[in-house]
Amino acid sequence: MEYLTNFFLPSAESTYAANVDALFHFINIVSLILLVGITIAIIYFAIKYRRKSQEDTTPLITHNTTLEVTWTVIPLILILIVFGWGFNDYVEMRTPPANSYEVYVESFSFGWNFEHPNGIKESNNLTVPVGTPVRLIMRSRDGDVLHSFFVPQFRLKQDLMPNRNTYAWFEAKNTGQFVYFCTEYCGGGHSMMNGTVTVLTAAEFDEWNEEELGRDLDALPLAELGRLVYQQAGCQGCHSVDGSSRVGPTLQGLYMREREFTDGSTRIADEDYLIESILYPQELVNVGYPNNMPNIYQQTLSEREVLGLVEFIKELQ
Ligand code: CUA
Repeated sequence: MEYLTNFFLPSAESTYAANVDALFHFINIVSLILLVGITIAIIYFAIKYRRKSQEDTTPLITHNTTLEVTWTVIPLILILIVFGWGFNDYVEMRTPPANSYEVYVESFSFGWNFEHPNGIKESNNLTVPVGTPVRLIMRSRDGDVLHSFFVPQFRLKQDLMPNRNTYAWFEAKNTGQFVYFCTEYCGGGHSMMNGTVTVLTAAEFDEWNEEELGRDLDALPLAELGRLVYQQAGCQGCHSVDGSSRVGPTLQGLYMREREFTDGSTRIADEDYLIESILYPQELVNVGYPNNMPNIYQQTLSEREVLGLVEFIKELQ
């Protein structure tokens, strides 16, 4: 049966994925049988009852109660089966088990933040234990737009909205890495809004937790802290570090390069400029890029984190 449920679909990696596939295949197979049967019947009757000559006097048939009841009742039964089956699976997919591990998910243009119950934060990768129900409490950043969290191998898809929580849950059957996507067209960085769900064994997950909790951010060198902030504050959604263009300019080779702004002025990207453009992103806008960097980093980043970003950028030559 496994080969059938995986037929032209990604492997089924959550506990409810196989149910979703089974219903999908049931609908497909029933539709296929009906399509073939009805098509053959149409062709057969069209030939058999065609008008053979002008004198053909075969009487017109206006209705047949038995036939009409049959072709109404059978589809009705099929639809009720699909409804009952789908409703049952839907309820399961919408009802996380009571002992679920809870993760807060925040989406923004253009990236994802995950916060674990013990305070560990991740961006663009979610680490979870295998065989454990995980409940996602999801929200789009205030003032941001709709995004949608889609893990094809889990058959999981849920929209996120600003100012309102939505929920989803899954239980991974196997360890491994599973790609997720943003599946709501949300702007220029939509195609970059993907990442991975990393599923670890319980022991690996404990180890990972210890490692993350033991990390002393104040002891990190500035540039390393900056790399972390770059990943976690959402910078990487819009700014690449490899020279490629995203929604915003790349950070590679940015330091000490001359920048051109929409007001016609230019400036060398020294430390002062980098700090200012992080804290007041809408003051000077680079030519060729939209003025849509969030004006939030005065509130969300500490002074050391801003300096960390500057040092991080300086190393990207
Ligand atoms: Cu976020 Cu598409």
